[in-house]
Amino acid sequence: MVKSYIVKISRSIFLCLGLLLASCLPPRLAEPGVVSASPVSTNAIRAIPLPSKTPEATSPPAQANFPSCEPAAGILPFKIVANQEIAQPTDAPSLRLLAKQRNLFVGAATDPGYLHKDNAASQLLAREFNMLVPEVAMKWEVIHPEPERYDFSRGDALVTFARQHGMAVRGHVLVWDLQMPDWVTNGKFTRQEWMQILCTHIKSVVGHYRGQIYAWDVLNEAVNQDGTLRNTFWMSKLGPEHIAMAFQWAREADPTAKLFYNDNGGEGLNPKSQGIYALVQGLQQMGVPINGVGMQMHTSLGRAPAASELAANMQRLAELGLEVHITEMDVRLQYSTSDLATKLAEQADIYREVLSVCLSAPNCKAFLTWGLTDRYSWIPGFTGKPDAPLLFDKDGLPKPAYFAIVKLLANQ
Ligand code: G3I
Repeated sequence: MVKSYIVKISRSIFLCLGLLLASCLPPRLAEPGVVSASPVSTNAIRAIPLPSKTPEATSPPAQANFPSCEPAAGILPFKIVANQEIAQPTDAPSLRLLAKQRNLFVGAATDPGYLHKDNAASQLLAREFNMLVPEVAMKWEVIHPEPERYDFSRGDALVTFARQHGMAVRGHVLVWDLQMPDWVTNGKFTRQEWMQILCTHIKSVVGHYRGQIYAWDVLNEAVNQDGTLRNTFWMSKLGPEHIAMAFQWAREADPTAKLFYNDNGGEGLNPKSQGIYALVQGLQQMGVPINGVGMQMHTSLGRAPAASELAANMQRLAELGLEVHITEMDVRLQYSTSDLATKLAEQADIYREVLSVCLSAPNCKAFLTWGLTDRYSWIPGFTGKPDAPLLFDKDGLPKPAYFAIVKLLANQ
Protein backbone atom coordinates (compact mmCIF):
# COMPACT_ATOMS: atom_id res chain seq x y z
CA MET A 1 0.00 0.00 0.00
CA VAL A 2 2.67 2.49 1.16
CA LYS A 3 4.99 1.19 -1.56
CA SER A 4 2.44 1.71 -4.30
CA TYR A 5 1.76 5.21 -2.98
CA ILE A 6 5.47 6.01 -3.12
CA VAL A 7 5.71 4.64 -6.64
CA LYS A 8 2.76 6.88 -7.62
CA ILE A 9 4.44 9.98 -6.18
CA SER A 10 7.67 9.25 -8.00
CA ARG A 11 5.81 8.69 -11.25
CA SER A 12 3.84 11.91 -10.95
CA ILE A 13 6.95 13.97 -10.12
CA PHE A 14 8.91 12.39 -12.96
CA LEU A 15 6.06 12.96 -15.38
CA CYS A 16 5.67 16.54 -14.23
CA LEU A 17 9.40 17.19 -14.54
CA GLY A 18 9.66 15.27 -17.77
CA LEU A 19 6.98 17.36 -19.39
CA LEU A 20 7.89 20.68 -17.92
CA LEU A 21 11.63 20.64 -17.60
CA ALA A 22 12.06 19.27 -21.06
CA SER A 23 10.24 22.32 -22.31
CA CYS A 24 12.72 24.72 -20.75
CA LEU A 25 16.12 23.10 -20.67
CA PRO A 26 18.73 24.32 -23.07
CA PRO A 27 20.06 21.66 -25.45
CA ARG A 28 23.48 21.52 -23.77
CA LEU A 29 21.82 20.46 -20.54
CA ALA A 30 19.64 17.76 -21.93
CA GLU A 31 21.10 14.28 -22.10
CA PRO A 32 20.08 12.73 -25.41
CA GLY A 33 18.80 9.52 -23.86
CA VAL A 34 16.65 11.34 -21.35
CA VAL A 35 15.29 13.80 -23.84
CA SER A 36 14.26 11.18 -26.33
CA ALA A 37 12.49 9.30 -23.54
CA SER A 38 10.45 12.38 -22.70
CA PRO A 39 7.01 12.93 -24.22
CA VAL A 40 8.25 16.19 -25.77
CA SER A 41 10.09 15.83 -29.07
CA THR A 42 13.79 16.70 -29.29
CA ASN A 43 13.03 19.13 -32.08
CA ALA A 44 10.67 20.98 -29.81
CA ILE A 45 13.38 21.11 -27.15
CA ARG A 46 16.01 22.35 -29.57
CA ALA A 47 13.67 25.15 -30.55
CA ILE A 48 13.66 26.41 -26.96
CA PRO A 49 16.22 29.18 -26.51
CA LEU A 50 19.12 29.01 -24.09
CA PRO A 51 18.63 30.93 -20.87
CA SER A 52 21.81 32.90 -21.43
CA LYS A 53 24.86 33.04 -23.64
CA THR A 54 26.89 29.86 -23.71
CA PRO A 55 29.68 28.74 -26.00
CA GLU A 56 27.11 26.71 -27.95
CA ALA A 57 24.69 29.58 -28.33
CA THR A 58 26.18 32.93 -29.05
CA SER A 59 23.34 34.33 -31.13
CA PRO A 60 20.06 35.54 -29.61
CA PRO A 61 17.38 32.86 -29.38
CA ALA A 62 14.61 32.89 -31.94
CA GLN A 63 11.87 32.36 -29.38
CA ALA A 64 12.14 34.19 -26.10
CA ASN A 65 10.22 31.84 -23.81
CA PHE A 66 12.93 31.96 -21.20
CA PRO A 67 14.78 35.21 -21.27
CA SER A 68 18.42 35.38 -20.48
CA CYS A 69 19.46 38.07 -18.08
CA GLU A 70 22.47 39.84 -16.67
CA PRO A 71 22.96 40.96 -13.08
CA ALA A 72 21.16 44.22 -12.31
CA ALA A 73 23.08 47.35 -13.28
CA GLY A 74 25.64 48.49 -10.74
CA ILE A 75 26.09 45.14 -8.97
CA LEU A 76 29.70 44.87 -7.94
CA PRO A 77 31.40 41.71 -6.78
CA PHE A 78 31.83 41.34 -3.04
CA LYS A 79 35.34 42.25 -1.96
CA ILE A 80 36.85 41.84 1.46
CA VAL A 81 38.55 45.06 2.56
CA ALA A 82 42.24 44.59 1.80
CA ASN A 83 43.73 45.46 5.15
CA GLN A 84 41.26 43.55 7.27
CA GLU A 85 42.97 41.22 9.67
CA ILE A 86 42.33 37.55 9.16
CA ALA A 87 42.06 35.96 12.57
CA GLN A 88 43.62 32.54 12.89
CA PRO A 89 41.38 29.95 14.49
CA THR A 90 42.78 29.15 17.93
CA ASP A 91 43.96 25.70 18.94
CA ALA A 92 41.53 25.65 21.85
CA PRO A 93 39.36 22.53 21.75
CA SER A 94 36.20 23.36 19.87
CA LEU A 95 33.60 21.82 17.63
CA ARG A 96 35.32 23.21 14.56
CA LEU A 97 38.69 21.76 15.46
CA LEU A 98 37.22 18.32 16.06
CA ALA A 99 34.99 18.55 12.99
CA LYS A 100 37.93 19.50 10.78
CA GLN A 101 39.63 16.25 11.73
CA ARG A 102 36.50 14.46 10.53
CA ASN A 103 36.37 16.47 7.30
CA LEU A 104 33.07 18.03 8.30
CA PHE A 105 31.74 21.59 8.36
CA VAL A 106 29.96 22.58 11.57
CA GLY A 107 27.94 25.74 11.39
CA ALA A 108 25.20 27.95 12.72
CA ALA A 109 22.69 30.40 11.32
CA THR A 110 23.40 33.91 12.41
CA ASP A 111 22.62 37.56 11.86
CA PRO A 112 24.96 40.56 11.77
CA GLY A 113 22.49 42.50 13.95
CA TYR A 114 23.40 40.64 17.11
CA LEU A 115 26.97 39.69 16.16
CA HIS A 116 27.65 43.39 16.01
CA LYS A 117 26.21 44.02 19.49
CA ASP A 118 27.11 40.82 21.29
CA ASN A 119 30.84 40.36 21.40
CA ALA A 120 30.61 37.10 23.35
CA ALA A 121 28.28 35.66 20.70
CA SER A 122 30.61 36.61 17.86
CA GLN A 123 33.55 35.07 19.71
CA LEU A 124 31.55 31.92 20.33
CA LEU A 125 30.61 31.66 16.65
CA ALA A 126 34.21 32.07 15.49
CA ARG A 127 35.59 29.71 18.12
CA GLU A 128 33.16 26.82 17.66
CA PHE A 129 32.08 26.86 14.02
CA ASN A 130 33.79 26.75 10.64
CA MET A 131 30.69 27.56 8.60
CA LEU A 132 27.93 30.14 8.93
CA VAL A 133 24.66 30.71 7.18
CA PRO A 134 22.79 34.02 7.17
CA GLU A 135 19.46 33.43 8.93
CA VAL A 136 17.78 36.32 7.12
CA ALA A 137 20.48 38.57 5.59
CA MET A 138 20.35 37.05 2.11
CA LYS A 139 16.59 36.57 1.94
CA TRP A 140 14.82 38.49 -0.78
CA GLU A 141 13.10 41.07 1.46
CA VAL A 142 16.46 42.07 2.94
CA ILE A 143 18.79 41.82 -0.01
CA HIS A 144 16.49 43.08 -2.77
CA PRO A 145 13.89 45.25 -1.03
CA GLU A 146 12.91 47.33 -4.08
CA PRO A 147 12.91 46.48 -7.77
CA GLU A 148 16.00 48.52 -8.54
CA ARG A 149 17.69 48.36 -5.14
CA TYR A 150 19.87 45.62 -3.68
CA ASP A 151 21.14 45.86 -0.11
CA PHE A 152 24.13 43.60 0.38
CA SER A 153 25.28 45.25 3.61
CA ARG A 154 24.11 42.54 6.01
CA GLY A 155 25.20 39.68 3.78
CA ASP A 156 28.57 41.35 3.20
CA ALA A 157 29.07 41.74 6.96
CA LEU A 158 28.59 38.01 7.43
CA VAL A 159 30.78 37.01 4.52
CA THR A 160 33.46 39.36 5.85
CA PHE A 161 33.14 37.85 9.32
CA ALA A 162 33.44 34.38 7.85
CA ARG A 163 36.53 35.33 5.84
CA GLN A 164 38.14 36.92 8.88
CA HIS A 165 37.64 33.77 10.90
CA GLY A 166 38.41 31.14 8.29
CA MET A 167 34.81 30.01 7.95
CA ALA A 168 32.84 28.82 4.94
CA VAL A 169 29.45 30.34 4.08
CA ARG A 170 26.21 28.66 3.04
CA GLY A 171 24.05 31.03 1.01
CA HIS A 172 20.37 31.05 1.97
CA VAL A 173 18.09 31.41 -0.01
CA LEU A 174 17.32 32.16 -3.66
CA VAL A 175 13.87 30.74 -4.42
CA TRP A 176 11.40 30.67 -1.54
CA ASP A 177 7.99 32.09 -0.93
CA LEU A 178 8.53 33.61 2.52
CA GLN A 179 10.33 36.79 3.52
CA MET A 180 9.78 38.38 0.16
CA PRO A 181 9.22 42.13 -0.20
CA ASP A 182 5.81 43.61 -1.01
CA TRP A 183 6.90 44.62 -4.49
CA VAL A 184 7.23 40.93 -5.29
CA THR A 185 4.32 39.44 -3.32
CA ASN A 186 1.89 42.13 -4.50
CA GLY A 187 3.47 42.57 -7.92
CA LYS A 188 1.43 42.43 -11.11
CA PHE A 189 3.65 41.27 -13.90
CA THR A 190 3.42 39.16 -17.02
CA ARG A 191 4.90 35.68 -17.02
CA GLN A 192 7.83 36.90 -19.07
CA GLU A 193 8.46 39.70 -16.58
CA TRP A 194 8.30 37.30 -13.61
CA MET A 195 10.86 35.14 -15.34
CA GLN A 196 13.10 38.15 -15.84
CA ILE A 197 12.64 39.23 -12.22
CA LEU A 198 13.64 35.83 -10.84
CA CYS A 199 16.52 35.48 -13.27
CA THR A 200 17.91 38.94 -12.49
CA HIS A 201 17.56 38.39 -8.75
CA ILE A 202 19.46 35.11 -8.85
CA LYS A 203 22.16 36.39 -11.19
CA SER A 204 22.64 39.55 -9.13
CA VAL A 205 22.79 37.94 -5.70
CA VAL A 206 24.82 34.88 -6.69
CA GLY A 207 27.02 37.03 -8.94
CA HIS A 208 27.77 39.48 -6.12
CA TYR A 209 29.03 36.62 -3.93
CA ARG A 210 30.65 34.65 -6.74
CA GLY A 211 33.53 32.58 -5.37
CA GLN A 212 32.59 33.34 -1.74
CA ILE A 213 29.82 30.84 -1.08
CA TYR A 214 30.43 27.15 -0.46
CA ALA A 215 26.84 26.16 -1.20
CA TRP A 216 23.63 27.98 -2.10
CA ASP A 217 20.15 26.92 -1.09
CA VAL A 218 18.78 27.54 -4.55
CA LEU A 219 15.30 26.20 -3.89
CA ASN A 220 13.67 25.95 -0.49
CA GLU A 221 10.60 24.00 0.63
CA ALA A 222 8.99 23.19 -2.71
CA VAL A 223 7.57 19.75 -1.84
CA ASN A 224 4.35 18.93 0.07
CA GLN A 225 4.12 16.38 2.89
CA ASP A 226 2.57 13.92 0.45
CA GLY A 227 5.55 14.25 -1.90
CA THR A 228 3.88 16.31 -4.60
CA LEU A 229 5.26 19.68 -5.72
CA ARG A 230 3.88 22.59 -3.63
CA ASN A 231 1.91 25.32 -5.31
CA THR A 232 4.44 27.94 -4.22
CA PHE A 233 4.44 31.60 -5.18
CA TRP A 234 6.90 30.90 -7.99
CA MET A 235 5.05 27.81 -9.11
CA SER A 236 1.88 29.85 -9.48
CA LYS A 237 3.69 32.52 -11.51
CA LEU A 238 5.99 30.35 -13.62
CA GLY A 239 5.10 26.68 -13.30
CA PRO A 240 7.61 23.98 -12.38
CA GLU A 241 10.10 24.94 -15.07
CA HIS A 242 11.34 27.76 -12.82
CA ILE A 243 13.04 25.05 -10.76
CA ALA A 244 15.43 23.97 -13.49
CA MET A 245 16.03 27.52 -14.58
CA ALA A 246 16.84 28.70 -11.04
CA PHE A 247 19.61 26.11 -10.73
CA GLN A 248 20.89 26.94 -14.20
CA TRP A 249 20.96 30.69 -13.53
CA ALA A 250 22.74 30.13 -10.22
CA ARG A 251 25.33 27.94 -11.95
CA GLU A 252 25.94 30.57 -14.61
CA ALA A 253 26.44 33.22 -11.92
CA ASP A 254 28.84 31.11 -9.85
CA PRO A 255 30.43 28.06 -11.44
CA THR A 256 32.00 26.89 -8.18
CA ALA A 257 29.24 27.13 -5.55
CA LYS A 258 27.47 23.88 -4.77
CA LEU A 259 23.77 24.14 -5.55
CA PHE A 260 21.27 22.66 -3.12
CA TYR A 261 17.62 21.83 -2.73
CA ASN A 262 16.68 22.45 0.95
CA ASP A 263 13.64 21.23 2.86
CA ASN A 264 12.23 20.12 6.18
CA GLY A 265 10.30 16.95 7.04
CA GLY A 266 11.96 14.80 4.40
CA GLU A 267 14.84 13.60 6.54
CA GLY A 268 13.54 10.10 7.21
CA LEU A 269 11.77 7.76 4.81
CA ASN A 270 8.29 9.06 4.07
CA PRO A 271 6.23 10.35 1.14
CA LYS A 272 7.92 13.76 1.38
CA SER A 273 11.47 12.41 1.23
CA GLN A 274 10.38 10.18 -1.63
CA GLY A 275 9.05 13.28 -3.43
CA ILE A 276 12.31 15.14 -2.79
CA TYR A 277 14.30 12.16 -4.04
CA ALA A 278 12.17 11.98 -7.19
CA LEU A 279 12.54 15.73 -7.72
CA VAL A 280 16.34 15.81 -7.46
CA GLN A 281 16.76 12.61 -9.42
CA GLY A 282 14.50 14.01 -12.14
CA LEU A 283 16.49 17.25 -12.21
CA GLN A 284 19.75 15.33 -12.49
CA GLN A 285 18.42 13.20 -15.30
CA MET A 286 17.51 16.37 -17.16
CA GLY A 287 21.07 17.63 -16.75
CA VAL A 288 20.17 20.36 -14.26
CA PRO A 289 23.17 21.41 -12.15
CA ILE A 290 22.33 20.27 -8.63
CA ASN A 291 24.93 19.15 -6.08
CA GLY A 292 23.10 18.36 -2.92
CA VAL A 293 20.11 18.16 -0.64
CA GLY A 294 19.77 20.15 2.57
CA MET A 295 17.96 18.37 5.36
CA GLN A 296 16.76 21.13 7.67
CA MET A 297 16.10 18.91 10.70
CA HIS A 298 13.82 21.18 12.71
CA THR A 299 12.70 18.62 15.23
CA SER A 300 11.54 18.12 18.80
CA LEU A 301 11.79 15.57 21.58
CA GLY A 302 10.18 12.28 20.57
CA ARG A 303 9.75 13.34 16.95
CA ALA A 304 13.19 13.01 15.45
CA PRO A 305 13.52 10.80 12.37
CA ALA A 306 14.72 7.26 13.01
CA ALA A 307 18.49 6.98 12.58
CA SER A 308 18.09 3.99 10.26
CA GLU A 309 15.76 5.97 7.96
CA LEU A 310 18.00 9.01 7.96
CA ALA A 311 20.95 6.81 7.04
CA ALA A 312 19.00 5.10 4.26
CA ASN A 313 17.88 8.45 2.88
CA MET A 314 21.45 9.80 2.87
CA GLN A 315 22.63 6.60 1.25
CA ARG A 316 20.20 6.77 -1.65
CA LEU A 317 21.16 10.42 -2.24
CA ALA A 318 24.82 9.36 -2.18
CA GLU A 319 24.02 6.86 -4.90
CA LEU A 320 22.87 9.82 -7.01
CA GLY A 321 26.22 11.48 -6.32
CA LEU A 322 24.61 14.17 -4.15
CA GLU A 323 25.99 15.77 -1.01
CA VAL A 324 23.81 16.09 2.06
CA HIS A 325 23.98 18.91 4.62
CA ILE A 326 22.08 19.02 7.89
CA THR A 327 21.20 22.65 7.35
CA GLU A 328 18.96 23.98 10.14
CA MET A 329 18.94 21.62 13.09
CA ASP A 330 17.18 22.50 16.32
CA VAL A 331 15.39 20.31 18.84
CA ARG A 332 12.39 21.82 20.63
CA LEU A 333 11.80 20.91 24.25
CA GLN A 334 8.42 22.56 24.72
CA TYR A 335 6.12 19.62 23.95
CA SER A 336 7.66 17.33 26.59
CA THR A 337 6.39 17.21 30.18
CA SER A 338 9.61 15.72 31.63
CA ASP A 339 11.85 17.69 34.00
CA LEU A 340 14.48 19.94 32.46
CA ALA A 341 17.44 17.64 33.08
CA THR A 342 15.64 14.78 31.33
CA LYS A 343 14.65 17.00 28.43
CA LEU A 344 18.22 18.23 27.97
CA ALA A 345 19.53 14.66 28.08
CA GLU A 346 16.99 13.56 25.46
CA GLN A 347 17.88 16.57 23.34
CA ALA A 348 21.54 15.59 23.56
CA ASP A 349 20.66 12.05 22.40
CA ILE A 350 18.92 13.42 19.31
CA TYR A 351 21.79 15.71 18.38
CA ARG A 352 24.27 12.87 18.91
CA GLU A 353 22.23 10.44 16.84
CA VAL A 354 21.80 12.79 13.88
CA LEU A 355 25.48 13.73 13.88
CA SER A 356 26.44 10.09 14.21
CA VAL A 357 24.47 9.21 11.07
CA CYS A 358 26.05 12.17 9.28
CA LEU A 359 29.56 11.07 10.27
CA SER A 360 28.87 7.58 8.96
CA ALA A 361 27.61 8.88 5.62
CA PRO A 362 30.50 9.87 3.32
CA ASN A 363 28.24 12.34 1.45
CA CYS A 364 27.17 14.21 4.62
CA LYS A 365 29.54 17.16 4.61
CA ALA A 366 28.01 19.77 6.89
CA PHE A 367 26.08 19.92 10.15
CA LEU A 368 24.47 23.27 11.02
CA THR A 369 22.10 24.48 13.72
CA TRP A 370 19.45 27.13 13.04
CA GLY A 371 20.75 29.80 15.40
CA LEU A 372 23.79 30.20 17.60
CA THR A 373 22.45 30.15 21.15
CA ASP A 374 19.01 29.70 22.69
CA ARG A 375 18.83 33.48 23.05
CA TYR A 376 18.81 33.86 19.29
CA SER A 377 16.63 30.92 18.29
CA TRP A 378 13.61 31.64 16.09
CA ILE A 379 11.52 29.02 17.94
CA PRO A 380 10.15 31.05 20.91
CA GLY A 381 9.08 33.86 18.55
CA PHE A 382 7.45 31.37 16.24
CA THR A 383 5.61 29.21 18.79
CA GLY A 384 5.00 31.96 21.37
CA LYS A 385 6.49 29.72 24.06
CA PRO A 386 9.91 29.65 25.71
CA ASP A 387 12.24 26.98 24.44
CA ALA A 388 15.89 25.97 24.37
CA PRO A 389 16.48 24.12 21.09
CA LEU A 390 20.19 24.72 20.43
CA LEU A 391 23.64 23.60 21.59
CA PHE A 392 24.32 26.69 23.74
CA ASP A 393 22.04 28.24 26.35
CA LYS A 394 20.93 31.87 26.48
CA ASP A 395 24.25 32.89 28.01
CA GLY A 396 26.27 31.03 25.42
CA LEU A 397 27.16 28.21 27.80
CA PRO A 398 27.43 24.72 26.32
CA LYS A 399 24.52 22.36 27.04
CA PRO A 400 24.51 18.56 27.31
CA ALA A 401 23.88 18.41 23.55
CA TYR A 402 27.15 20.27 22.93
CA PHE A 403 29.14 17.88 25.13
CA ALA A 404 27.46 14.90 23.47
CA ILE A 405 28.54 15.93 20.00
CA VAL A 406 32.03 16.95 21.15
CA LYS A 407 32.45 13.47 22.58
CA LEU A 408 31.21 11.89 19.39
CA LEU A 409 33.49 14.01 17.19
CA ALA A 410 36.41 13.15 19.44
CA ASN A 411 35.60 9.44 19.05
CA GLN A 412 35.16 9.03 22.79
O1 G3I B 1 12.63 42.29 10.99
C1 G3I B 1 11.34 42.36 11.63
C2 G3I B 1 11.36 43.39 12.73
O2 G3I B 1 11.58 44.64 12.15
C3 G3I B 1 10.04 43.33 13.48
O3 G3I B 1 10.10 44.20 14.57
C4 G3I B 1 9.77 41.92 13.99
C5 G3I B 1 8.41 41.79 14.65
O4 G3I B 1 7.94 40.47 14.64
O5 G3I B 1 9.80 41.03 12.89
C6 G3I B 1 11.04 41.01 12.22
O6 G3I B 1 10.95 40.11 11.17
C7 G3I B 1 11.01 38.77 11.50
C8 G3I B 1 12.18 38.14 10.77
O7 G3I B 1 12.21 36.76 11.00
C9 G3I B 1 13.54 38.75 11.17
O8 G3I B 1 14.16 38.05 12.15
C10 G3I B 1 9.71 38.10 11.07
O9 G3I B 1 8.63 38.59 11.85
C11 G3I B 1 9.80 36.62 11.24
O10 G3I B 1 8.65 36.00 10.67
C12 G3I B 1 11.05 36.11 10.52
O11 G3I B 1 11.11 34.75 10.76
C13 G3I B 1 12.09 34.04 10.05
C14 G3I B 1 11.43 32.95 9.22
O12 G3I B 1 12.41 32.14 8.61
C15 G3I B 1 10.54 33.51 8.13
O13 G3I B 1 9.66 32.58 7.76
C16 G3I B 1 13.05 33.45 11.04
O14 G3I B 1 13.81 34.49 11.63
C17 G3I B 1 13.99 32.47 10.36
O15 G3I B 1 14.69 31.77 11.35
C18 G3I B 1 13.18 31.48 9.54
O16 G3I B 1 14.07 30.60 8.93
C19 G3I B 1 13.51 29.56 8.13
C20 G3I B 1 14.49 29.27 7.03
O17 G3I B 1 14.77 30.43 6.31
C21 G3I B 1 13.97 28.18 6.11
N1 G3I B 1 13.61 27.00 6.86
C22 G3I B 1 12.71 27.21 7.98
C23 G3I B 1 13.26 28.27 8.92
C24 G3I B 1 12.35 28.47 10.10
O18 G3I B 1 11.10 28.97 9.69
